[in-house]
Amino acid sequence: ADRRNRRVAVFGAGYIGLVTGACLAELGHRVVVRDIDPEKVRVLQGGDVPIYEPGLGDMITRNKERLTFTLDLDEALAEAEVAYVCVDTPPSVSGDADLSKVWSVVRSLAAAPHLHTVVMKSTVPVGTGVRARAALDEAGLTATGYASNPEFTAEGRAVNDFMNPDRIVIGADEPATAVLIAELHSGIDAPVVTMDVRSAEMVKLASNALLATKISFANEIATLCENTGADAMEVLGAVGLDHRLGPHFLRPGIGWGGSCFPKDSEALRQLASNTGFHPPLLSAVIDVNNIQKRRAIQKLKDVLGDLAGREIVLLGMAFKPGTDDMREAPSAVLASRLQAEGASVRCWDPLARPSAAEPWLSARRYASPEEALDGADAAVVVTEWAQLRDVDWGRVAQLMRRPVLFDGRNLLDPAEMRELGFTYMSVGRP
Ligand code: UGA
Repeated sequence: ADRRNRRVAVFGAGYIGLVTGACLAELGHRVVVRDIDPEKVRVLQGGDVPIYEPGLGDMITRNKERLTFTLDLDEALAEAEVAYVCVDTPPSVSGDADLSKVWSVVRSLAAAPHLHTVVMKSTVPVGTGVRARAALDEAGLTATGYASNPEFTAEGRAVNDFMNPDRIVIGADEPATAVLIAELHSGIDAPVVTMDVRSAEMVKLASNALLATKISFANEIATLCENTGADAMEVLGAVGLDHRLGPHFLRPGIGWGGSCFPKDSEALRQLASNTGFHPPLLSAVIDVNNIQKRRAIQKLKDVLGDLAGREIVLLGMAFKPGTDDMREAPSAVLASRLQAEGASVRCWDPLARPSAAEPWLSARRYASPEEALDGADAAVVVTEWAQLRDVDWGRVAQLMRRPVLFDGRNLLDPAEMRELGFTYMSVGRP
């Protein structure tokens, strides 16, 4: 077959499945994306995208000749030469990743007449490939290849990251399988790194753990700067200029969140302890992240005293700007802690909507930062939305009952904010 015109079935129409499906169609392949959620499939068939991801809608529209969406398993499998597994692997009660959706996809592949290769995109524990191989053999797919092809795309820039990656990692135990996956990506200019399946599975977990480590390190240094009067932004800016360390992921803040770092770091720690090894560094990285959120509450208490009855505004709910995603967002942790202290929580975010999830039920949502801040006792910048830079903070200082602001993202200028009358606190800056 033409290496630019493979028939691909993508299982799972979440962030990863949609981006993978759209980008593979963009590269020239014929793609069917299958999901079991009728509402999601209906939205996609109607030409809409159920998630916010810049560039994704346009890419889907542009490739509609080559990209379809279905609920129907047989339709997805009929022509498929390559099956991508892109379902979510949420943490289970034990802390291990819950692979039930992965296994249900793998079992369903038994009926695929033309299937050449199964590709694992979902983030899975090391060793999943061995179990997948056994499941495929059991399903009669003994001649079907298997590859681990982890994704390194970040939300809010996933389409760009997929099309312009730093590297493509392919784990396969048969050379022919690796070659096929590499060819599927032809048109993308990036080093292809081929290795065994277990190692590819580990690359994904190790990459996210090191990124999370850099942030937790920056947060710990920021606390030390607060205690010693140094300025963490100056310090980390200069540290990052060493090319061996690099400037990225050294921004101190309110702690990391999102659908990946919290889940993957826990999963890696669990994976380690399943092997009898308790990883001290990884555990500390997770601890520092939890401490960072507690420190935010402590800073408010230092100024306000008792938080009971206080009106506190959370500016930003999404786990980072440029997304509507609230999975493991620090805002949710802050909201539930504040409410537990008896505070009344207000919130603002340009994109994210509070889910039916518990901490938000009694939080009031406002259409603009100014409306949320009117009459409030304190505010926290939780997500560094650019809109917050344009707020007329001088006016806000008058509107608030007490102009107390904890800038959890070092978004604003300390001298300016204090000039305007704020009791202003940030992370690691005097
Ligand atoms: C992350 C990785 O960056 C991707 O490479 C990876 O593919 C993805 O997880 C995944 O496993 O799927 P993402 O979760 O979308 O991507 O978001 P990031 O931009 O990495 O941010 C994660 C968290 O770290 C956010 O809460 C952010 O605010 C925080 N962060 C990031 C900091 O506090 N400081 C920094 O310097 C950078």
